[in-house]
Amino acid sequence: MDWGMKNRLGRLVKADGHCMFLPIDHGYFQGPTRKLEKPGETIAPLIEFADGLFVTRGVLRAAIDPNNCPPIILRVSGGTSIIGQDLSHEALTTSITEALRLNVSAVGMSIFIGSDYEYDSLVNLGQLVDDCNDFGIPVMAVTAVGKELEKRDARYLALCCRIAAEFGATIVKTYWCEDFEKVTQGCPVPVVMAGGPKVDTEREVFDFVHDGMQKGAIGLNLGRNVWQHPHPVAMMKALRAIVHGGAAAGEAEDVYRQEIQAEN
Ligand code: 5RP
Repeated sequence: MDWGMKNRLGRLVKADGHCMFLPIDHGYFQGPTRKLEKPGETIAPLIEFADGLFVTRGVLRAAIDPNNCPPIILRVSGGTSIIGQDLSHEALTTSITEALRLNVSAVGMSIFIGSDYEYDSLVNLGQLVDDCNDFGIPVMAVTAVGKELEKRDARYLALCCRIAAEFGATIVKTYWCEDFEKVTQGCPVPVVMAGGPKVDTEREVFDFVHDGMQKGAIGLNLGRNVWQHPHPVAMMKALRAIVHGGAAAGEAEDVYRQEIQAEN
């Protein structure tokens, strides 16, 4: 691996080999997502706990202080909206020149396996990897499911992650699922987990994050279950305890409870 690529990856993935990314890119197709109407305000108390911020160039420029931010993973795909015909019809929307200008540590784009635009998203991924390799920029492939959340099973996600790795992704972001080891074992590059729509209890999040880490994930790219939660700082601290501290789900819950007691 080239020096620049190693250096950029090293900013994102910490010495323990683990990472905790905070995605706030949802507005690129969802508009002003709940609790992310003012992204700068939402994430201000959270950024010190994030190893990376997954964000579009628009929000980065408008809402993030260049002198006080974690390493950036720039979302570079898009072109659809939640009210449009088909969420999978994405293209590359941001150039490598722009990524370099913004001094990002990685770029990220979605692939849509099994959709009408599977071919387009995979060809785009190959192109992005080629372009980024020229400049030592890691690529995070996002295994997107659009509105079909029920697709999130081990067989499907293992297929998506493996294909992303075959196309040259440096890191793959996917969802946790039952039998998650089938996803990580079939993927020769590091896998991070998203959270999906907010779940009912924090314990559910701690349980799946702990399970996924035990089964080979290197960390998280988890958004709504943090910043839509009433206690996002407590969530960040508890999740860090699992990802970087090796805590069990129950121990993470203790961290969470201690933090909300301290907040009150
Ligand atoms: C949305 C994304 C998000 O980065 C990803 O889904 C993680 O966020 P969440 O934990 O809220 O699902 O790619 O476009």
